[in-house]
Amino acid sequence: MDFKNKSIISLRDLTKEEVEFILQKSDEVKSDKHPDALKDKVMASLFFEPSTRTRLSFESAMISLGGKVFGFATQDSSSVSKGETLKDTIKMVTGYCDVIIMRHPLEGASRAAQEVSSVPIINCGDGSNQHPTQALLDLFTIKDKFKKIDGLNIGLYGDLRYGRTVHSLSMALSHYKVNLYFISPKILQMPDHYKLYLNQCGLKYFEAESLEEVADKLDVIYVTRIQKERFADPEEFVKVAGSYKITLNTLGMLKKSAKIMHPLPRVNEIDTSVDNTEHAIYFEQAHNGIPVRQALLGLVTGGIR
Ligand code: NCD
Repeated sequence: MDFKNKSIISLRDLTKEEVEFILQKSDEVKSDKHPDALKDKVMASLFFEPSTRTRLSFESAMISLGGKVFGFATQDSSSVSKGETLKDTIKMVTGYCDVIIMRHPLEGASRAAQEVSSVPIINCGDGSNQHPTQALLDLFTIKDKFKKIDGLNIGLYGDLRYGRTVHSLSMALSHYKVNLYFISPKILQMPDHYKLYLNQCGLKYFEAESLEEVADKLDVIYVTRIQKERFADPEEFVKVAGSYKITLNTLGMLKKSAKIMHPLPRVNEIDTSVDNTEHAIYFEQAHNGIPVRQALLGLVTGGIR
């Protein structure tokens, strides 16, 4: 399977075979099979929106396999603040590197960048649309913990309307035989076009407004933060702020083997007292960002085949 020069923009573009291939290469990287895969490759890291894990894990992934990194972490430190268009910025940067990773507040920004780029683009989040590398590391984590994906009952809990991680993850899970549970306050429900997509893929999903309704069925509870920055109406945010939280009390409702995931950052959706329980795997999940991003960078720059 040849990924060289392929951009990673949306889960919609990846077949099941491609997803599985990326997971297999991530496993290989984790067991040190490709130590020089990124030697002398250069990555441009363009973050028009804040990030901690995604940007730093990509940079760490690059450096640890022999690559080099440059870029900016805020829009203000680029010429965008002088009025330069995204497409002009990308056309310039294309001449300086082998791969571009980017995050942007506008939906579709990475797709627009791909149109003018001669190097692969990896989408690190475009507005509330997609976050494909997060979904891949989420799948990697689920597979690592349960040794399978088929047959699991997976609950996505929180802001399903604006959360790009749950949009990408539900598309990734459409390749598997899972039952999905969408648990959210009414105004934060999964958008219809994702539900339509899942229907077309034949994936079963159920909707609930409270975790209690479905808690005892779930193998995975994937919690998300309310995406405050995406609300057009601040009053709408006030209506749902603080409306759900996982605490030690919640754990009693769950299966003993259930795992709690979160893309992080958390605000107050999971009490810190939960962190040291067997259920919590969100920090391990974040650390899996390294092998998955190492594999992706190696594949698209041709260092891993
Ligand atoms: C997520 C994002 O940026 O969409 N963060 C991440 O990359 N792990 C989730 C979020 O910001 O809530």
